[in-house]
Amino acid sequence: MQCLSAVGFILLKAIMKFYTLILLCCLFNFTQQLNEQDRCVCELTNKEKAFPHETLNSVNENASKCSHTVSPQKALELESLLLGLKVRLPQLLKDVSTLEKEDDGELYGVVSLQVIENELIEIKNMVDRLNRTTQGFQHLTTDSGRQLNHLKADLEQLELYDILQVEKSRKANQRLKRDLEICRNDAQPTPHPDDVQTSDICPHGKFVNITGPRFYSNGESTVSHKYGGWGRDPKPELGKENWYWRVILNVNNIFANHITFYSSLSTLTVGIKLPGNFIIHPSNPTTNTIQGPNVVVYGDALFYNCYNSDRLCRFNLTSKTVSTLQLPQGTRYNSKGNFCHLSECYVYTDMDLATDESGVWLIYSTVHDFGNLVLAKVEEGDPPTLNQTWHTSVYKQAVTNTFMACGVLYATRFINNGMEEIFYSFDTSTGEEKFNLGIFIHKMCPNINFLNYSPVDQLLYAYCDAYMVSYDVLFE
Ligand SMILES: *[C@@H]1O[C@H](CO)[C@@H](O)[C@H](O)[C@H]1NC(C)=O
Ligand SMILES: *[C@@H]1O[C@H](CO)[C@@H](O)[C@H](O)[C@H]1NC(C)=O
Ligand SMILES: *[C@@H]1O[C@H](CO)[C@@H](O)[C@H](O)[C@H]1NC(C)=O
Ligand SMILES: *[C@@H]1O[C@H](CO)[C@@H](O)[C@H](O)[C@H]1NC(C)=O
Ligand SMILES: *[C@@H]1O[C@H](CO)[C@@H](O)[C@H](O)[C@H]1NC(C)=O
Repeated sequence: MQCLSAVGFILLKAIMKFYTLILLCCLFNFTQQLNEQDRCVCELTNKEKAFPHETLNSVNENASKCSHTVSPQKALELESLLLGLKVRLPQLLKDVSTLEKEDDGELYGVVSLQVIENELIEIKNMVDRLNRTTQGFQHLTTDSGRQLNHLKADLEQLELYDILQVEKSRKANQRLKRDLEICRNDAQPTPHPDDVQTSDICPHGKFVNITGPRFYSNGESTVSHKYGGWGRDPKPELGKENWYWRVILNVNNIFANHITFYSSLSTLTVGIKLPGNFIIHPSNPTTNTIQGPNVVVYGDALFYNCYNSDRLCRFNLTSKTVSTLQLPQGTRYNSKGNFCHLSECYVYTDMDLATDESGVWLIYSTVHDFGNLVLAKVEEGDPPTLNQTWHTSVYKQAVTNTFMACGVLYATRFINNGMEEIFYSFDTSTGEEKFNLGIFIHKMCPNINFLNYSPVDQLLYAYCDAYMVSYDVLFE
């Protein structure tokens, strides 16, 4: 498939280049005629057939369609499904043999049976998806093959004209192109300062609603590890644009010593850990271990609450080093200022990191503010620093989670097992607080212990009892 796609792409490039040359050539002749009009008249008789622009256009269009349908993305999807099956089938075999060993002559262990049943269902889902994907592929392959053959024949025909017309005017074209470039550079509009500011901070307008879920998966089977976080780096390094990260806390829902990266959403779904784990420290827990689920990745660094301390940690994912920031005196930590609802508090959620269009934020609480939410802008430096701080009038333990979008803080509360409400907002540009937003999130499981807005894809990422879920954010 990739081979086909490459051929399509080369063809397309060749055609497009050729097409521009012809266009420029016509332009050039026309200009020359105007300039010389006063002095001499020359008659040009073209003995060749007129150039078949129509055919060229059609070839161009068909080639472009072809290279769109055969994308490397599709190949990757197939590849990751196959890899996923390769990983899961031996696991299933192992589970079944464990189960057989457990057989004590009476009943098979109910729990083990449940695990295997789940595994079977997931494998069946993957096989179904694989079937759909391969069928789509067969269709694509024959279709594209036929199209490419057509295109090749058409192109050979067109080449006859090419030699006559293009070679002659190549030099003139280059000159014209250069002039055009100069002209274009001069014509660059200077942006209006006011426009830049508003569209920089909030390019999509005001946040109005949530729909979805769009994505729902537990990736690998880790249902015993309920707490974690996941998402994408809004400011990724070159080549890491499609990566997804996931942090899974230990079974006590307190800490983790590594973050895992996946090369795409589909590899995350099937649990192929590539590029894999980035270990902060081999021991777990120790100094600078991750504490609590509400972590974020921004600008190639992981931001989190350092284990057993009132400090903010920043783990550089390239150098694999940690720098720390001591938070203001009175900051609550070690499960003293958690997110809660009536029947439960989410342990070790004292500190909530968040990302939005403008960078990283920290939401926490202090003894001075009666345990109310405090919001601070985190500056990215090494070590990070806190910039401006805002004090709100909402009690942290009456809130289940928070996130930032367009410089506005949003807080959620628990309605019932199936519904969470975004009820509160605090606008950092005006200081305005609202307590009655009434935007509802349809939950896939009762407890959302991680929630973060991703400005790269305008999705809300949630982590809910071991499941990764994402929602579409609707803007005005
Ligand atoms: C482009 O595709 C259309 C529809 O598939 C076909 O009818 C047409 O002949 C193609 N054009 C060329 C130049 O191959
Ligand atoms: C694949 O899908 C086709 C058509 O939906 C179906 O007939 C076939 O049985 C499926 N194969 C498998 C292995 O599920
Ligand atoms: C928000 O989205 C939900 C679900 O799609 C819909 O039922 C509701 O009417 C929407 N609310 C507003 C204010 O648009
Ligand atoms: C991470 O460390 C590398 C190597 O020291 C450095 O070049 C890079 O700028 C750092 N990245 C960040 C985001 O601080
Ligand atoms: C703090 O924020 C202001 C306003 O956004 C910004 O101009 C300033 O550079 C920031 N300070 C630091 C130390 O980054």
